[in-house]
Amino acid sequence: MNIGVLGAGEVGGTIGRKLAALGHTVMVSSRHPEAIGRDFAGVENLSVGTPQEAAAQGEWLINALPGEGTIDVLRSCAVDGKILIDISNYMSAVDQPIEIPLGEAIQRAFPSVRLVKTLNSVSAHLMVDPGHLKGRHQVFIASNDEPAKRQVTSLLRDFGWSEVIDLGGLDACRAMEQLIPLWMQLEEKLGGPNFNLAVVRE
Ligand SMILES: NC(=O)c1ccc[n+]([C@@H]2O[C@H](COP(=O)([O-])OP(=O)(O)OC[C@H]3O[C@@H](n4cnc5c(N)ncnc54)[C@H](OP(=O)(O)O)[C@@H]3O)[C@@H](O)[C@H]2O)c1
Repeated sequence: MNIGVLGAGEVGGTIGRKLAALGHTVMVSSRHPEAIGRDFAGVENLSVGTPQEAAAQGEWLINALPGEGTIDVLRSCAVDGKILIDISNYMSAVDQPIEIPLGEAIQRAFPSVRLVKTLNSVSAHLMVDPGHLKGRHQVFIASNDEPAKRQVTSLLRDFGWSEVIDLGGLDACRAMEQLIPLWMQLEEKLGGPNFNLAVVRE
């Protein structure tokens, strides 16, 4: 599949490399693609372009941008009708209430987009290698589009996730995005991002 990854930072780069290793054709994006091309030199199936180029080539898109800039960037991109996996968070969510959760705001701004929210509370390296942690742990997913959610769940399984908790529609974005202050606090207290939240049940 052709996948456009918006962003090429910690998340975009990690996800892009994994998708390419799985055999997908991937373009990650930067506002200055020439400046970061060397970071990805020699990675098979992966190229670097502008956000607009990555979106144009992707049948699926992945949002790995800072939440605050996302909607403006998406306005300049070909997104209509595409599955868009939204991994992003508002930085402001760390210490301020979320007015409209990002996943819901994107869906409202682009009604034809098949938005799937997932992975936003998982450390970048664990997104594509959940087995790195030995205990049982889960990833959350939400979407108003059930077929899109099923397809993205299948991709999460390709990444190695055996436990995917379906939280329902995009009204779950608030709960998912409000995990960020807790995540940041844990990262500081535990001395790094090598952890995930786990749900324990009977
Ligand atoms: N890091 C994690 O472990 C983690 C975990 C879960 C969720 N997230 C979320 O994932 C998102 C990305 O996080 P990250 O850690 O990968 O951040 P990052 O390393 O800072 O990367 C951000 C990327 O976005 C691009 N970018 C920034 N502003 C842009 C704009 N206005 N227009 C176009 N591109 C822009 C940057 O590209 P250029 O500057 O080169 O253009 C860069 O490639 C955030 O929303 C974050 O909350 C991160």
